[in-house]
Amino acid sequence: MCYNRIIFLILIFQLCLFSACTSNHAEELYPTNDTEAKLYYETTLKPVIDTKCISCHVYHTEGANRYDSYEKTKSNISQMLERINATTNIVMPPADQEQLSTEEKNSFKTFLNILQSDSPQDDNPIKVNWTAYKYPDFDNRAGVSGTFDSVISYNLNDSAVNLIDLLNGANVLIDASSVNVGNETERTQNVASFFNAFTSQISGIVDNYNEENAWITFSMNGISQQVVLDVILESNKIILNGKIPDLNVFNWENAYNVFNTICGEYHENKLWEDVKISIEISNI
Ligand code: HEC
Repeated sequence: MCYNRIIFLILIFQLCLFSACTSNHAEELYPTNDTEAKLYYETTLKPVIDTKCISCHVYHTEGANRYDSYEKTKSNISQMLERINATTNIVMPPADQEQLSTEEKNSFKTFLNILQSDSPQDDNPIKVNWTAYKYPDFDNRAGVSGTFDSVISYNLNDSAVNLIDLLNGANVLIDASSVNVGNETERTQNVASFFNAFTSQISGIVDNYNEENAWITFSMNGISQQVVLDVILESNKIILNGKIPDLNVFNWENAYNVFNTICGEYHENKLWEDVKISIEISNI
């Protein structure tokens, strides 16, 4: 009796330990964008795994390597990619089996890309959009827009009665490496290397505001400058529009050169020193 109970407790304990371990692992690797990745898994990747992998992988009757759920697939995706792209005898499915089509192979990679492309954080009420300009001829310069997916911390005035008073004492700290210029991974990586050479964080502090303007001090690369932005009030959103007029103020030369080395060919080695910004603050 007592012995049975001990076994039972040990089992429960192991189960808890195990599930804690797998889910933490997955969460740490890819903290964001589960919603979109889950959808892709259900509609596209799971059918591939079910037809080309699971038949054998039932040999793992349980545990993390039985790729029969979203969480397990998420935790093991890099291992799976390594195996399906292998050119040696570790290749999966094994060489004597029906192989993956190119499209099926790509679905594993796309799944990983979706996991890694940070989702817009719905619980984060502050969204910073920017547009930088490229090409040497001012009249024909082209805008490149992006955003930052990760806000490290922010503060809005909780006790605001009027929408505009959310700005009272407001501030935001952004992880510059979370820059995102859309679906093209390579372009996002290039822009991330720019920020990597420039500044790891960007902070914005509201110094003063009224219904027309907001005075905001931005800090990057250890240097601060106050900028005046236009205020637009929508039903439950404040939009602050304007520009950071000159990145030279923030000593961006080194990053500028790094960026030109990596991808100068795409912008004829010219990036302009002014950046348009639009900050959306939602009342949630
Ligand atoms: C014909 C049977 C078979 C098929 C089909 C198959 N595998 Fe495997 N797989 C194995 C066996 C057996 C092993 C353990 C031996 C080894 O590591 O090579 C293994 C090992 C692995 C491993 C190493 C970790 C582990 O679970 O042991 C990964 C990752 C893997 N397979 C991924 C895949 C993926 C992804 C697919 C589908 C695209 C797939 N396999 C299809 C038989 C198969």
